[in-house]
Amino acid sequence: MTRSFLTLGDLNREELFEIFQKALKLKAAIKARKEIFPLKNKVVGILFEKPSTRTRVSFESAAIRLGGHAIYLSSNDLQLRRGEPVKDTARVLGGYLDALVARVYDHRTVEELAEYSGITVINALSDIAHPTQAVCDLLTILEVKGSLDGLTLAYIGDGNNVCQSLLECCALAGVNIVAACPEGYHPKAHILDNALRIAEKSGSRITVVDDPTEAAKGADILYADVWVSMGEESEKEKKMKAFKGYQINADLLSIAAKGALVMHCLPAYRGLEITDDVIECPQSIVWQQAENKTHGAAAILAFFMDSE
Ligand code: CP
Ligand code: NVA
Repeated sequence: MTRSFLTLGDLNREELFEIFQKALKLKAAIKARKEIFPLKNKVVGILFEKPSTRTRVSFESAAIRLGGHAIYLSSNDLQLRRGEPVKDTARVLGGYLDALVARVYDHRTVEELAEYSGITVINALSDIAHPTQAVCDLLTILEVKGSLDGLTLAYIGDGNNVCQSLLECCALAGVNIVAACPEGYHPKAHILDNALRIAEKSGSRITVVDDPTEAAKGADILYADVWVSMGEESEKEKKMKAFKGYQINADLLSIAAKGALVMHCLPAYRGLEITDDVIECPQSIVWQQAENKTHGAAAILAFFMDSE
C-alpha cells in the first residue's frame, strides 16, 4: 500500500523510532562512504512553491546518495502557475515519479497531491505542518543525548507549522514540550488536542503558555523558529510587535537547565528570534541539526518508499 507522510499522524511510535534507527545507520554508512542503494532506479520529484535551502537540498542529496534520482520542480516552472489543477498535475506526475516531496502554501495541496498521484507524497512544509523537520530535530536530540527519556523541550515563538509538528512528534516520542507563543499565535486547537491525545499513551507533558520564561525554566532544549514565516511578509510589522520578548537570548538560556541545548530550524534572523551569541554558543547544536535533515530525509524516503 502506498503511504504518504503529511503530518505526524501518519506514523506510530514504533515507526518513528524505526526511522530514527534507520537514519543513524544511513548516516554511519554515508560517513563511511559505503555504497547503499535502497532507492536504486527510483525517481523522486521535489516540488516546491516556496524557497528552501535545507529541506530541498537535503532531500535531493538523500535521494541521490541512496542510489535514486531527484528532479527539482519549481511550481513556477510547471503549468500549475498557469492554472492547471493540482489534481491533474498530481495524476500526471504520478506516472513519471516514484515519490514526490512537496513544499506548499496550503496544506490541502499536499493532501490533494497524495490523493490523486498514487505515489508517496512527503510534506516538506505547509501552513499547518513541517513533519520532516520535527523528525530530524528529535533524531538530533536522540543522537546528542543518547536517549529522549525525561527530556523537556521549550519552543519559543510562533505556534504555526514547525511548532505544531514538534508538539505531535514530542507527544509520539515521549518528550515533554512547553510552547510559549504570544496571544493570537497559539497552535491550532485541533492539533494541540491531537498531541494531547497521543501524549496520553507516551506519557509526555504537552503545555502551551504565553510566557517564554515559564517555558524556558529548567528546560533541556530551547528551540526557535523565525518570527515571520514564508508568505507572511505583509504582516512583518505586526509580528515584530507581537513577538518582542519571544527571543532566545543569554537571559533565557540562563534559566534553562544547566547545559541546555539550543536549536533552531533555520534560517535564523540574529537579533530577532535568537541572539548571535546564543546561536554561536557551545550549547547550540543548530549545524548538527541542519546536517541531520539529510540523514532523516534518507530514512524517511527509504521507510515510506519501501512501504509501497
Ligand atoms: N528548516 C527548513 O525547512 O529550512 P529551509 O526552508 O531552508 O528548507
Ligand atoms: N515557520 C517557518 C519555518 C521555516 C523553515 C516558515 O513557515 O517559514
